[in-house]
Amino acid sequence: MIALGSDHGGFELKNEILKHLQEQGIECKDFGTYTTDSCDYPVYAKAVANAVASGECEKGVLVCGTGIGVSICANKVPGIRAALVSDCFSAEATRAHNDANIICLGARVTGPGLALRLVDTFLNTPFSGDPRHERRIRMLE
Ligand code: RB5
Repeated sequence: MIALGSDHGGFELKNEILKHLQEQGIECKDFGTYTTDSCDYPVYAKAVANAVASGECEKGVLVCGTGIGVSICANKVPGIRAALVSDCFSAEATRAHNDANIICLGARVTGPGLALRLVDTFLNTPFSGDPRHERRIRMLE
């Protein structure tokens, strides 16, 4: 189960990602927002981060205008490693090296075609399991 969330700035891109994942048969839970009305990104970032941290959802996707607000917020939840990415190399590396469990995107920064590619790369890349990366991840907590 993949958790998705956004504020108004990420609403349209979040919906595109949701449709894209569902078309692949991937189970998703949409934590909102559900309209384009102005809203507060921490509400949705916390909901997604809590769902991932609790194990309810395996990974998460968060979108706001820049991706910055949701990433700052999500990373305050213990056990969350949220990565703000805008290139495929980083989307892959943050899974392989950081075992990131939430991808954050900026809808006003990254176009929809690239964003879908970033989400696919993130979700399809396993953690390397390399002991040096495991050690560093343990040091984050
Ligand atoms: C909303 O205008 C905007 O501040 C928000 O989407 C996000 O970019 C915050 O980091």
